[in-house]
Amino acid sequence: MSFTIIEPATARLNRSELAVPGSNPKLFEKAAQSQADVVFLDLEDAVAPDDKVQARKNVIEAINDIDWGAKTLSVRINGLDTHYMYRDVVDILEQTSGRLDVIMIPKVGTAADVYAVDMLVTQIEDAMKLSKRIGFEHIIETALGMANVDEIAAASKRNESLHFGVADYAASTKARTTVIGGPNALYGVLTDMEEGRERDYHWGDMWHYAVSRMVVAARANGLRPIDGPFGDFSDPDGFKAQANRAACLGCEGKWAIHPSQIALANEVNSPSEAEIDRAQRILVAMAQAQKEGKGAVALDGRLIDIASIKQAEVMVKKAEQILAAG
Ligand code: GLV
Ligand code: MG
Repeated sequence: MSFTIIEPATARLNRSELAVPGSNPKLFEKAAQSQADVVFLDLEDAVAPDDKVQARKNVIEAINDIDWGAKTLSVRINGLDTHYMYRDVVDILEQTSGRLDVIMIPKVGTAADVYAVDMLVTQIEDAMKLSKRIGFEHIIETALGMANVDEIAAASKRNESLHFGVADYAASTKARTTVIGGPNALYGVLTDMEEGRERDYHWGDMWHYAVSRMVVAARANGLRPIDGPFGDFSDPDGFKAQANRAACLGCEGKWAIHPSQIALANEVNSPSEAEIDRAQRILVAMAQAQKEGKGAVALDGRLIDIASIKQAEVMVKKAEQILAAG
């Protein structure tokens, strides 16, 4: 183990994160009553420039007036390259009553972007004598953001999570896709020519590197890695396949850009009963092994060791969090 201890961010359930356009207040109540662990009210790309000011007012009202229950509540502010951003932060923090939990910062490019918002938020919290500290969620969705992802992840004590924004990332890197998330038939492997055998073509995951890179930066800084949007909300199987790939790489949640995706994200990002059962049995078996002075033992015909304890503890802790959230 390194001498450097990784401090975990504020613990929150983040299996599903529902995006709700701030310009559409009709959706707010339903979002509050949904099964989403986190709701983010959007002031950025889901809101047209002419609606920005009204959307901000809607969001302030919604934070103050709606019962959001035990949900984590977030607002996606506008980018630092727009003049909307400072007023998003100032008005929302000054005109709401402390219910907001986190601010989502889009298109973060450098650690200095995080520093700038931290400075602004800190001044407002101090001036308003707010005891609750707002957390940050960052969307990694540009080439610049990915190039600086480690510094961004370490840039503020407010940081809680990194999110992979596949749509803007594709635009920024000029990746060959026009859909939001999911695979591309052109990104595949053609098997070698072999006598008497047809060649196979296997689709690959063109987002593998980006998601994995972000996961490493997030986990090395105690943050939650979260996979972003999957645009085709009429394709639940495609959504689940993408969510499962991200979860395999270490993500612990995924956005829902449509209410129908919430249950899918929750399902993919909750351990199954069989997984929880096995994790509990690993902990029991390893406790026994340690009593007997052994570092590794066999369980169900497979080797388990000290690293298995950590994996099992993560699983059991997640199951407890889910149970506590009801
Ligand atoms: C999210 O903001 C994305 O660009 O995918
Ligand atoms: Mg985006």
